[in-house]
Amino acid sequence: MSGAIDLAIRGGTLVTAADRFRADIGVRDGRIVEISERIDGATEEIDATGLFVLPGGIDAHVHLAQPTSDGTVMADDFETGTRSAAAGGNTTVLPFAMQVKGTSLRDCVTAYHEKAAGNCYTDVSFHLIISDPTPQVLGQELPALVRDGYTSFKVFMTYDDLMLNDAQLLEVFDVARREQALVMVHAEGHDAIRHMARRLEEQGRTAPYYHAEAHAEIAEREATHRAISHAQLTDVPVVIVHVSGRDPMEQIQWARRRGMQVYAETCPQYIALTRDDLKGLNMDFEGAKYVCSPPPRDADGQAAIWEGLRDGTFDLFSSDHCPFYFEAPAETGKDNHRARTSFRWVPNGIPGVETRLPILFSEGVSKGRISMERFVALTSTNPARLYGLYPQKGALAIGADADITLWDAGLTRPITQAGLNHGSDYTPYEGMEITGWPVRTLLRGRTTALDGRTVEGPRPGRYQSRGLSEAVTRAG
Ligand code: URP
Ligand code: ZN
Ligand code: ZN
Ligand code: ZN
Repeated sequence: MSGAIDLAIRGGTLVTAADRFRADIGVRDGRIVEISERIDGATEEIDATGLFVLPGGIDAHVHLAQPTSDGTVMADDFETGTRSAAAGGNTTVLPFAMQVKGTSLRDCVTAYHEKAAGNCYTDVSFHLIISDPTPQVLGQELPALVRDGYTSFKVFMTYDDLMLNDAQLLEVFDVARREQALVMVHAEGHDAIRHMARRLEEQGRTAPYYHAEAHAEIAEREATHRAISHAQLTDVPVVIVHVSGRDPMEQIQWARRRGMQVYAETCPQYIALTRDDLKGLNMDFEGAKYVCSPPPRDADGQAAIWEGLRDGTFDLFSSDHCPFYFEAPAETGKDNHRARTSFRWVPNGIPGVETRLPILFSEGVSKGRISMERFVALTSTNPARLYGLYPQKGALAIGADADITLWDAGLTRPITQAGLNHGSDYTPYEGMEITGWPVRTLLRGRTTALDGRTVEGPRPGRYQSRGLSEAVTRAG
């Protein structure tokens, strides 16, 4: 081994999912090759005195450049979305390659690769969304894709253009078990939501706020239980994504007490927003800035989410970044006139890839609710383990990629739209006071972002093929 170290990150405090300690990090050819008390003589040095040195954030749930059924254009493509991610302390994101009904899953995956290639400030890998589980998809395309490193896929229990019925869910779960893939479930009961939405519209309740009433927590609880039951029947591990509150959490805890392998994800919107935000200023269209599914709940729900983040109910804290415009630019050919007629036409999803880490750090670590180690586990190490990227990603260890975020735990400033890099024309967290921000992001030893802005130059992000989930190898 040639002794030369390309880069030394010196004087910082390293934090992993398990512990924290003072050390220098030595990087060669984009990998961590030394962790020791003192590293001298590196070609380049970064002074991390007074900063925390974390494994780069891995956001395992983001939506970029997805087509929508009504032609609404997403506010982020791979360039702006990963720029926003890098500025927010992330080194890897996992967007979805979404199958459009009636088309080949493999062709959809190819199209996403074309959108991403050469445009990314972070590494990327794709989960698959299966919306049309034809015999061809289940029998040929999916098994081949899993073997090619697409080792996780998401299924939906609601949305007209995406949802699967129970028979289809069971078919997909069977394939997941056979091929050793990990299934992610959007658990909300479609018929219950449709029933509530129709009733609200008949009563003239059409403001964005009523989205939160239509997408009732009861419908989420019921679907969570149903997804878990299907997983038990087919003997397959599942991840329940974007869990919003106490009721669905109880279903997950119930399953785990019975020894089932159920994993759970929650998101910033469920600790930093409530359904009251959907009221806007005066039950007006401002509320559309907070419409996502499941919707934010209430203060008791937030308290439950914090318990779950502390006690291990949650394995993952992801953004569910799904960015739309409040006022779309004319060139998108879309405006929000139809959305103003009813909550049913407001696109579901909010931006958050850049604010995920600051919100959890500020509300969690700075306020003493979770430890820094738990923060790292939820935002980097666990996503790497569950989605087949560990220990190349999610670790500060010899041989791991030098994906590193330098964190200033004492820096206080508010979240503002002007300070962010995403494509949306608003942030749902405008004005939120944050203590603890990323100040430098390094991807394979190369600085991608400094003080909230990306570094200009060629975009260094690469596609990462993934191994099997630890959930699957654990299941045996
Ligand atoms: O409202 C949301 N969460 N939109 C994104 C799509 C999804 O269901 O994750
Ligand atoms: Zn979802
Ligand atoms: Zn999502
Ligand atoms: Zn119009």
